[in-house]
Parts: sequence; C-alpha cells; structure tokens
Amino acid sequence: MGKKLLLANDHVPGIQSLDVYSKHGGYAAVEKALKTMTPDALVEEVKTSGLRGRGGAGFPTGMKWSFLAKPEGVPRYLVCNADESEPGTFKDRYLMERIPHLLIEGMIVSSFALGANTSYIYIRGEYFYIVRILEKAIEEAYAAGYLGKNILGTGYDLDLYVHPGAGAYICGEETALIESLEGKRGNPRIKPPFPAVKGLYQCPTVVNNVETIAAVVPIVNMGGAEYAKIGIGRSTGTKLISASGHINKPGVYEIELGVPVEEFIYSEEYCGGIKNGKKLKAVVAGGSSVPILPGELILKTAQGEPRLMSYESLADGGFATGTMLGSGGFIVMDETSSIVKNLWNFTRFYHHESCGQCSPCREGTGWMEKILHRIMDGHGKQSDIDLLWDLQKNIEGKTICPLGDAAAWPVASAIRHFRAEFEAYVNNPGSIKEVRHYYSVNNLQPA
Ligand SMILES: Cc1cc2nc3c(=O)[nH]c(=O)nc-3n(C[C@H](O)[C@H](O)[C@H](O)COP(=O)(O)O)c2cc1C
Repeated sequence: MGKKLLLANDHVPGIQSLDVYSKHGGYAAVEKALKTMTPDALVEEVKTSGLRGRGGAGFPTGMKWSFLAKPEGVPRYLVCNADESEPGTFKDRYLMERIPHLLIEGMIVSSFALGANTSYIYIRGEYFYIVRILEKAIEEAYAAGYLGKNILGTGYDLDLYVHPGAGAYICGEETALIESLEGKRGNPRIKPPFPAVKGLYQCPTVVNNVETIAAVVPIVNMGGAEYAKIGIGRSTGTKLISASGHINKPGVYEIELGVPVEEFIYSEEYCGGIKNGKKLKAVVAGGSSVPILPGELILKTAQGEPRLMSYESLADGGFATGTMLGSGGFIVMDETSSIVKNLWNFTRFYHHESCGQCSPCREGTGWMEKILHRIMDGHGKQSDIDLLWDLQKNIEGKTICPLGDAAAWPVASAIRHFRAEFEAYVNNPGSIKEVRHYYSVNNLQPA
C-alpha cells in the first residue's frame, strides 16, 4: 500500500466538517506554522521538500514562493487555481469535495508563508456545488479562529474568498485567471512581468494549484526533509492521479511518485487492468495537453526501462518517445479506441477554448479541427496528414500562453506514433467505423 498524505482520511464519515477534520489531526499545520515558524522558515521547508507544482508544469513550489517580490506597503496575494478544466483531470474536484478543510488549511499556512492577508480560491464555475462546500468550511474556520483577525492570537490576519469562474478553460492559465478575478475577460497576459512581481491588481501574487497548496499541510506536519524522502529523485512526495478510460477501476488515486506505470494500470490497488480483458493501445498520461503514447512506450522507455509515474521517467525520450506527468489526468485507451477520433475530440475542445488573442492558436486550432473532421468524415486526403503536422508546428511556441502548445502536442504525438491509422482512414474511409489497431515503432517522425 502506498503512503497517503492527502487522501488518508477522505473516507472518514463527516470529514467535511471542521470538527471531524480536527479530530483526525486537522489544523495541526496551522498551529505549528503560525505559532512556531517564521514565513521564511516555511518557504525554506517547502524548498527542502522538493514539492513541484501539481497544476501541470511541475515548477518547484519553494522556488516560486521565493521569487515573490516584497515591496514595502504593497499587498501580496495567494490565489489558488481550482479552475480544473483540463480534459481527463478531476483530482482537485475530488479533494475539495471530500476534504475541503485540507485546502483551507493549506491556504492559511501558505498565505502566512507568503505574507498575504487576502487570498482567493478561483474555482471552475461548473463546480458550483463545491463553492458551497468550501464556503461552509471557510465559515467554520472563521468561527474556530483559523481565519480572520489575529489568528490563534498570533497577530496574523487572513481573509479567504471563493470566486467562481465563468466556465472557460483559458481561465486556468494563471494570468488569464488573474484577469478574470479582476473582473475582466480571461485573456492571458504577456510575460514579463510575471505574477510574482505584478499579479492580481498589479501586486505580487503567487498562483498555485489546489493539490500543491494541500501538499503544504503534510510538508509542515512532517517536515520538508521527510517529505522529500517519499517519491523518486526530483519527483518527491505523492501525486493525485485522475484515472479514466478503459480501465476496471476509474477514480482518483494518490500514488507515491515513482510507481511503475505498469503497476498503476494493472494492479488491483490502482486501475485494476484494462476493461473486458482487452489490450492496451495508448495512454494520455497527464491530461489532454500532453503527448499521447502507444502502450509499448508508456510501459517502457525507448531504452526498454520500465516507465515510472514520475516527472522525469514520463518525460524520458523527450517528445520523440516520451510524454509528461502534467496534471496527472491519466486516460487509458484500449485496442478498440480510435486515435484520430479522440484527437478530433481534443482538438475541437482547444478550438472552442482558444481565447482568440493569438492568431496561430485562434486560426490554427480551427483549421486542425476542420481537417480532422474531414478525415473522420471519410473525405481526408493524404496531404492532410502533412498539413496537420505543419499546422501544429506553426502553433507550438508561437502564442502568448501555452494553450497553443497544449493544442499542438496531441496532434504531433498522434501523427508521430499512429500515422498509419491516419493513413488508413484516408486511404480506406470504410475502415473508419471499425476501428483498427495500428502502431509501428518504425513510424516515428522527427520531433
Ligand atoms: C490553458 C491553460 C489552462 C490551465 N489550467 C489550469 C488549471 O485548471 N489548474 C491549474 O492548477 N493550473 C492550470 N494551468 C497552469 C497554470 O497556468 C499555473 O501554471 C498553475 O496554476 C501553477 O500552479 P502550480 O505551480 O501549483 O502547479 C493552466 C495552464 C494553461 C496554459
């Protein structure tokens, strides 16, 4: 059984209430941090833990915190990114719904570390029912003296607000989120300046994912050095994985980073194997934005090493033969899945969600969607495959925010690893209904 740091108590009846949460050790991190530690010591502790952002990019959290500008007389903000709109990712929802006080506790400790007196949880608009859960938890925390003025008599003040988003994937991008929180249209900002210098209301701001902030609680309780012993290499601690697709046991799993992918897919502790005894065809390991890998390459690296659930191992081989841990949205596809159809679905999403500021993304995602639609409709041409390849190349890295990359990488990887399936659809449109399993290791295209 892997170690559980976030979801150890998620099934305890009544854990949503402050009373039960406290009986299970809740708010010990607030007591310890506010009464016995300085903000700088907390930042150091998080640095020592090796915690990396759980929102997708995996940036070291302690380092991000240490970049926060501290000009005299200017407020600082902590904003929790609970926008969670990446297809395949639903772990933040689970955490907030099941154990809301863990996030509130993490927010208090992290806000203290950063010197923020006002903090926000920006939550995906469709999670409206969770807004009520969080607001109830926040109300309880105020009543218990964990929020508000002079918390636990330490002289530290913190107000915490929940702000529902308006239903746009782009508002998960941290600068678009800040714009939206300010009441504007959620368009990403050009960086620099980075939010650490000019963020919310042009003040220094840290934006962190729900799971990142929740992980600060066990880090404070056990100490950064102990936390760093869990996991593997630079992938320290535990990670929530949203597992979906053709598996026997879809759900949210807390894994110790470093578990072999094969164990994660096939063991009873996690996904319980492929549904109906079918064969594994492909996996999207970190949410829809990351490169899709064929079954052979997700289980083993190109060098034949077992692939592990860690930032480094999943990325082994670069984009030629590897992928990314991303936000941990692990989508498993069996041999009956159509890669082209799945890609069309993802691309439709990115086209719909592009904010439209940058023409490569605004136009390119639409063109890719149209071409994929044409192929799926049985009217594709051989040249469409190369056109798709060209298009994604002309979007990647050419936009203000990484939504362009997020739209390009699934297209590139699908063509790189499953070109034969595209060709079969083009050359033999009759095959589109009966989905086939095509994969050849010799079929790799240059990254
Ligand atoms: C289009 C787009 C959508 C994003 N959506 C989310 C999201 O829903 N949740 C999230 O935590 N990060 C999301 N991110 C990443 C954030 O910009 C940011 O990196 C993250 O909130 C930082 O938190 P972390 O350091 O704790 O991972 C998104 C990025 C992009 C480009």
